[in-house]
Amino acid sequence: MFDAYSRYYDLLYQDKDYAAEVAYVDALLQRHGIGGRELLEFGSGTGRHGRLLAERAYRVTGIERSAAMVARAQPSPGFQCLAGDIRTVQLGRTFDAVLSLFHVVSYQVGNADVQAVFARAAEHLLAGGLFVFDVWYSPAVLAQRPAVRIKRLAADGLEITRLAEPHLLPNANRVDVNYTLFARDTATGAVATFTESHPMRHFSLPELDLLAEAAGFERLGAEAFLTGAPPGEDTWGLCLVLRKT
Ligand SMILES: C[S@@+](CC[C@H](N)C(=O)[O-])C[C@H]1O[C@@H](n2cnc3c(N)ncnc32)[C@H](O)[C@@H]1O
Repeated sequence: MFDAYSRYYDLLYQDKDYAAEVAYVDALLQRHGIGGRELLEFGSGTGRHGRLLAERAYRVTGIERSAAMVARAQPSPGFQCLAGDIRTVQLGRTFDAVLSLFHVVSYQVGNADVQAVFARAAEHLLAGGLFVFDVWYSPAVLAQRPAVRIKRLAADGLEITRLAEPHLLPNANRVDVNYTLFARDTATGAVATFTESHPMRHFSLPELDLLAEAAGFERLGAEAFLTGAPPGEDTWGLCLVLRKT
């Protein structure tokens, strides 16, 4: 997963407002007294959040499973990306906060996977440190239901069409998003096609509270990612703020 997709990742999300997201996360961290400190980022992708956070004086270590994404995550002063799996990573040191942004925790679909990620976050935090992440929120997923989506864009000599076809597994709190991507080279007319399936889990608050408590966290906040609104049936991306007790 993400290896074929990674080639087009930054193009597909060129309109995603990473700067606004980083401003939101920075404000959140500052509110809890950890502005400009040491961060561990789970599932750091191509490093867009990490590099922007480093520009705000944080020191960020990203952990990323896809070798192709790691290869695209250019290091910058204050940001580095290491290859690793967030279910098993053991860096042998602690941080002021663990971040996991853009639904990375929702990619952990099995109970053991999510429990392992919460445990690894706790192990890498100082007492009182924060675990901040966003996930698909069950009330919104079930109320709105994922739909087939088509995304088209043109950039860097490519015309890209991405088809996203969701398949709901209601008893597993899971949606398998089946992507088909067509990339047409505008100079040669050659079309590359590939498919990838991204299994996504959605979570309810009581479920997240159980996971948090079992891993030694207390919940400080739960709100719509980016807007800070109270969570509800229109909150697809729920932001959780947990503190290691
Ligand atoms: C939607 S992308 C988000 C990337 C980045 N956080 C961003 O906002 O652009 C999800 C990322 O999580 C990574 N990922 C998912 N499960 C992982 C795991 N168990 N260990 C490490 N990385 C993982 C994927 O490889 C992918 O790069």
